[in-house]
Amino acid sequence: MNYVLVLNEYTKTGDCLEEKRQVTIVDPSRRGNIGRYINHSCEPNCHIAAVRIDCPIPKICIFAARNIHALEELCFHYGGEDQQVDPASDSKTCLCTADSCSGFMPNSAII
Ligand SMILES: C[S@@+](CC[C@H](N)C(=O)[O-])C[C@H]1O[C@@H](n2cnc3c(N)ncnc32)[C@H](O)[C@@H]1O
Repeated sequence: MNYVLVLNEYTKTGDCLEEKRQVTIVDPSRRGNIGRYINHSCEPNCHIAAVRIDCPIPKICIFAARNIHALEELCFHYGGEDQQVDPASDSKTCLCTADSCSGFMPNSAII
């Protein structure tokens, strides 16, 4: 039962290529929308992005990554598509059934 979304944004600062990380945590346990029910997939049809409109706190927006058929389940990659999943960690088993499924859920809650 984990509906918390942790978004890590990395930006390079200055000339020294030092990375700055901004973490946004969305906890819909008291208030949220239907987006909380979107499952993880290793071959997602959506991706998420932080969108800021007149406010430093971003909205977490869900965009189609390709054409999606009616009644097809929406899904995104919980770890960001670049994240390597470490099966040695205590990751949950992934049930997404994608051909390229890694077998494990990403550990996206690392802060
Ligand atoms: C944001 S909720 C998604 C909605 C949830 N499946 C439900 O029915 O309410 C995230 C939780 O769903 C489950 N989940 C999501 N994607 C999964 C996947 N590919 N494989 C296994 N469990 C998954 C995990 O328990 C995860 O902590």
